[in-house]
Parts: sequence; C-alpha cells; structure tokens
Amino acid sequence: MGSSAREMTRLDAPSTIQPASAPPPWRAPLDAVAPFLRHGPSARALLTALELGVFELLPPDLATSPDELRRMLSLPPESMALLADLLVGQGALARDAAGRLTPTPALLAALAHRDLLEAKLFLGLAAERDLLAGLPALLGDRPAFMARAETFRLFDYRPAETGADPAAVARWVRLTTALTTAEAPAFLAHADLGGHARLLDVGGNSGEFARALCAATPGLSAEVLDLPGVCRAGEAHLARTAPDAPVRFRPADFRRDPIPEGFDLVMFKSVLHDWPDAEAEALLTSAARALAPGGRLLVFERNGRGLDRGPVTPDTAPHVLFAPWYRGPDRYVRTLERLGFDLRLTTVEIDLPFLLLDAVKPA
Ligand SMILES: C[S@@+](CC[C@H](N)C(=O)[O-])C[C@H]1O[C@@H](n2cnc3c(N)ncnc32)[C@H](O)[C@@H]1O
Repeated sequence: MGSSAREMTRLDAPSTIQPASAPPPWRAPLDAVAPFLRHGPSARALLTALELGVFELLPPDLATSPDELRRMLSLPPESMALLADLLVGQGALARDAAGRLTPTPALLAALAHRDLLEAKLFLGLAAERDLLAGLPALLGDRPAFMARAETFRLFDYRPAETGADPAAVARWVRLTTALTTAEAPAFLAHADLGGHARLLDVGGNSGEFARALCAATPGLSAEVLDLPGVCRAGEAHLARTAPDAPVRFRPADFRRDPIPEGFDLVMFKSVLHDWPDAEAEALLTSAARALAPGGRLLVFERNGRGLDRGPVTPDTAPHVLFAPWYRGPDRYVRTLERLGFDLRLTTVEIDLPFLLLDAVKPA
C-alpha cells in the first residue's frame, strides 16, 4: 500500500479529525485546565496560589473572608488583597458583596485534574520565560538558545543515564506523566489495539501510557524500554498508582542496546522528535526489524502544526519552543514504506495536532 500511504501523507491536513459538536469525554481534563493557561502573569498567580496551598484552605461551599485566609497563609494584608484580585480577575475565585472568597466552578473543574493543571502551568511558564528572553536565539542560533533555555534543562536525560539525581528525574517524569495521562485517551479513541498481546513502548517513560493502553485492551501486557533512572521512577509511579498493571520495565539505552524482539506492537509516543533525522531513522528501522511479522508499529507525536491558530499562551508556549524539532510524518512514512509496511496516517487533534502513523509489518 506504498502509494496510498504517500497519498495519505499529502492529504494529511484535510484528513484532520474535527472535534464533534459535543466534545469527546477525553477532552474534559484539557478543556477544564485551558481557561487558566491563557495569560502568563495570571497563570503565575494561580501557580503561586497552588504552591501556597490557598485552595486547601478555601472550602468549595463556604465563603471565606480574605482576612481569615491571610492569617492562615501568614500573608501581609496588601499581598493577600493583590493575590485575591489576581485570582478573581482570572475567574479562579468569586468575591461576594461582603468581600468573601469562594472557588469558582471553573476552578473546581480544573482542580479535579490538578496534576495536569500544575504540569501545564509549570512547563508553560518556564517556556514562556525562555521565549521572552530568547526567541531571537531560537530563530537565529538554536544551540545558544538550547544552552540557555530553562525548559531544556528540565528535560535533561543525562541524570537518567547515570543514576545521578533521582529527585530531578522523578520531577520531570511527573510532568511527562501528567501530560501523557491526558493524551492517552485521545490516542485510544483513534487506535483499536484489540487482538494484540505484547506491547513494547520505546521511551515509554513512567509506564503511564502503556498502563492506559493495557487497561483499554483485554489481554495486552507491556514492556517499557527507557533509561535506567526513568525506569526506576516509572516503577515507583506504577507501584503507587497501579500496582496490578501488566507493565514491566526494561532499562536500556536505545542508542546502544538492541531493540528487543518478541513484541507484536511497538509504540513510539513523543520520542522520535527528540532525535536528529539520522538517529530517528536508525531507531525506527531497528524497531521495525525487531517487530514480529504481521505486527504493528505506531508513531504518535505532535506534527508541529497549529501554532498559527492564535497568540502564544502558557498552554502553547512549550510547543513553540519545541517546534523546530517537531517533524511531519514524511520521513517516517518513507522509512517504513522502504521496509514494506502497510501504512495508515491520521491527524489527531488534542490541544494541537498529533500525527498518528499506524504501520503493519508484512506477515
Ligand atoms: C519526550 S519523552 C516521551 C515520554 C513518553 N513516551 C511520553 O509520551 O510521555 C522521551 C522519552 O525517551 C526516553 N529516552 C531518551 N533517550 C533515551 C535513550 N537513549 N534510550 C532509552 N530511552 C530514552 C526519555 O527518558 C523519555 O522517557
């Protein structure tokens, strides 16, 4: 089906799946947090309030006086007044005629997905700072931008290779886990994995994506291949959140270690864009060769489009930062076509478009 795959590549934009009039249930967490990720300083005020524990002190069904709140937080009156103004202004708190404060329904909906809210606020604000300080360098001198950008330091893989600084590794694994928790149901709404038995999630991080795929697919078990420090953080994550999940970890470095055989499903979720063309192609080729005949290889990652839809916000700032590294599907399509795979390409709209390349190896 080589030529039809090419055709689908060309038709990629029109094949975009439009959100239906009633949003699918998997959109709910993203839609709930989105209103609080529109403006940098307001997002900073909300993150500060989360860090101070403000919302633990505000019962949802009881109006609290700012004086009472400031005593509990040990804040000076002017600071409390300013923070309350910033939270009321962005729709996180409502103020009644007597000046008392209550969390709004919109905030309560966002707090139901607190990990996602915190991860998006934290990453979005770091990326916004990097863009404000360094957009000219991003455009003109990428190595200099990367050397200075806080966001790239957050995702430094080196401590995960050496075992140094497990706390730093656990910190960024928490961020990717929160994002992937929201993205997995969107993937599952577009890919039926029924009939598969053994999944290898290459660069599968905390195992959260593999866990969600196994939970949705009877009979599926998974192995996550990732750097040793990440596997340790992943084991701790699953031991805490889903101890019975059929997910095991395989510490390895895919630049050196072979991709293991014995899997009928191989996943690359938000991994290949990390690598220059030659490395990404070598990795994809090794995984394709290791896959069982008749097996399926899936690539799911942002395609770099959609940034022209509106002004940059803390929600989209991280993707502006990574945009020069996101690539469309063409290279992956060419590599897998060369290996004789049967391809289907879809665009999945999450917060921005993702490419979903579904490739079946000849039996
Ligand atoms: C951008 S993250 C994506 C994680 C996960 N798939 C997701 O979507 O949330 C890339 C992953 O690749 C892993 N990785 C990076 N270099 C690696 C290497 N040389 N060998 C194995 N895994 C690696 C990272 O540790 C990280 O978990």
